Amino acid sequence: MRKHIVAGNWKMNKTFEQADDLINEIVEKLETTELDRNTLLILCPPFPYLEMTSDYANDSYFMVGAQDVSSHKEGAYTGEISAAMLDSMDLDYCIVGHSERRQYHGESNAMVAAKVDQLLKHDIKPIVCCGEVLAERESEKQFDVVKQQIVEGLFHLSAEQFSNIVIAYEPVWAIGTGKTATPEQAQEIHAFIRNLIAEKYGKEVADNTSILYGGSCKPSNAKEIFAQADVDGGLIGGACLKAVDFLAIATSF
Ligand code: PGA
Repeated sequence: MRKHIVAGNWKMNKTFEQADDLINEIVEKLETTELDRNTLLILCPPFPYLEMTSDYANDSYFMVGAQDVSSHKEGAYTGEISAAMLDSMDLDYCIVGHSERRQYHGESNAMVAAKVDQLLKHDIKPIVCCGEVLAERESEKQFDVVKQQIVEGLFHLSAEQFSNIVIAYEPVWAIGTGKTATPEQAQEIHAFIRNLIAEKYGKEVADNTSILYGGSCKPSNAKEIFAQADVDGGLIGGACLKAVDFLAIATSF
């Protein structure tokens, strides 16, 4: 049975002290929160807070992920963080190909593929983002765009490698805008993605792949979205910065 996953993408938010407070609050609330046994909670704070978050994770019920990784192995790449470094901190997950990386840092599908390869070499599970911008949705190109992102970013993998991949479908027009995809829109494209995976890797791999929805997901709409057959959880931005909202979403299955 594929996992339900709720991952919090903190993006570039919180000072060290605020981060400490937020994690503390999440840990405290988790002690009295009934999470479904099949639900995995992942915190993806900024790089400088990964170690602190991992320390808390040792005594709590969540896993830790990074928000990005270098496509290079090591060397003269000032400011970059390698998969080996994340591995040496025992991280479990890493977001790759977020639309903000694609938009502001020119991250191409080929770069996403290279980052995925680096992560898999170090046994870190990639959470690979895909999704169309508004103009593409308005001209009904969302299926073509998402297909190209997935084919070029992931379909070089073997079936065994692919079984470590988590996919996050995030329509760019819904990220941080307050506009959420309707549950039907989410289901339609999640089913399309699962079908693509089934065609390439077979039904079993497709059935075991967690496909998350992201884009203005909050406590008030999570239940309806997560109730869709092919939606296995969420990648949460804004709403993960408040412990109470994040955990309300995590208990929305
Ligand atoms: P949002 O961001 O929940 O603030 O829309 C989601 C994301 O970008 O991962």
